[in-house]
Amino acid sequence: MTMQDKQTWSGRFNEPVAELVKRYTASVEFDQRLALFDIQGSLAHAQMLAACNIISEQDLNDIRRGMAQIENEIIAGEFEWSLDLEDVHLNIEKRLTTLVGDAGKRLHTGRSRNDQVATDVRLYLRNAIDEIILLTHALQAALVELAAQHTHTIMPGFTHLQVAQPVSFAHHLMAYLEMFKRDAERLADCRKRVNRLPLGAAALAGTSYPIKREYVAELLSFDAVCENSLDAVSDRDFAIEFTAAAALIMTHLSRLSEELILWMSPRFSFIDIADRFCTGSSIMPQKKNPDVPELVRGKTGRVNGHLVSLLTLMKGQPLAYNKDNQEDKEPLFDTVDTLIQTLRIYADMMGGITVRPEAMRVAALQGYATATDLADYLVKKGLPFRDAHEAVALAVRFAEQRNCDLADLKLDELQKFSSLITDDIYSVLTLEGSLAARNHTGGTSPQQVEAAIARARQHLAGKSAA
Ligand code: ARG
Repeated sequence: MTMQDKQTWSGRFNEPVAELVKRYTASVEFDQRLALFDIQGSLAHAQMLAACNIISEQDLNDIRRGMAQIENEIIAGEFEWSLDLEDVHLNIEKRLTTLVGDAGKRLHTGRSRNDQVATDVRLYLRNAIDEIILLTHALQAALVELAAQHTHTIMPGFTHLQVAQPVSFAHHLMAYLEMFKRDAERLADCRKRVNRLPLGAAALAGTSYPIKREYVAELLSFDAVCENSLDAVSDRDFAIEFTAAAALIMTHLSRLSEELILWMSPRFSFIDIADRFCTGSSIMPQKKNPDVPELVRGKTGRVNGHLVSLLTLMKGQPLAYNKDNQEDKEPLFDTVDTLIQTLRIYADMMGGITVRPEAMRVAALQGYATATDLADYLVKKGLPFRDAHEAVALAVRFAEQRNCDLADLKLDELQKFSSLITDDIYSVLTLEGSLAARNHTGGTSPQQVEAAIARARQHLAGKSAA
């Protein structure tokens, strides 16, 4: 980073800006990452200026030549960023002028950094969203493939973390599939509002040059232009919306992480996570810690924090652009980075899970998971549900005293709680019977879960073909 250049806007100032202030107000150290989008936006703007005869074809060619060189310098890591030039926009513009002279100075005609930066952030975010949507599909595919192997693997389903009713492991995994499917939908919806063009709003009121904003929108593949210039330069709701969608994805991943951590603990032993996603302890030789899911749970706090940062950044700002908005970048960039890294590692980790069906089964057999099935059985034989509930509660208490399962009770013992019970009860009290009985859309029967898996595979195949 060099410090020798004088400020682009310094003409009206009597003294140079204080060194501390320069450092405080500059954004180039972090907004550099917008560089290629900044060039992309500038090239479209210049092409429109030439098409509208605001600059000459010669100027356009010079701008293109200069920008091509700048792009190469940036990609090669040879571009010299200057703190004195404040941000990515002024750095690139200054270099362009050094390379091609007056054409470089004409680039900013009919434009301001305010609409320029809003455009850059939208281009950046659109690109990030496309990548993230693909990653959510990869994660969904990993979940579906694991689920497909476990439609008959029975585990206890929990409410209040107490054994509630048996479910298949596949059904449990497919619950997360639904969450990630909605997450992908949310991102695709958010993209529509990200994908509108602020350029042409200039500083805040529009510009007196005869520009064609729709043409720029077309060149940059935006769906439309932002329809109010004040709004175009000032609001960052699109970034907030994205960060909210990201926070939800992280929240879903955090819940799944919490389950993986529990399931891997020796108390559960439902699963094992491949060694490459775990670490050991420096003091306890026996330890294998689920660091990745724990970190995902931890990083969720970080992304949730970024959401609150951005909301707070926006809440007190009068129209139109204020420098506050420069603070949108770090939370947004970190949200994108965290989410991309997390999704990548997660899809891989789900593929490396070892399932222990025996341990799940043993756990499902504890805790009277089929008690509801017994109540439903009595209801089907004519007993009102509340009475059935009471009869089963008493039967559970009895079995508990004997330290056995409901299915271990003899027929005459069960009949003490209701004379409606006959020997067909034993098939109802099995885990398999309990699952098979829940045979409607959304239920845990293997047939339904297999259908859900087939739908998910079809949905994902459609996405990768698109
Ligand atoms: N670096 C600034 C930002 O990120 C660019 C816009 C500055 N505009 C201005 N008038 N100071 O928001």
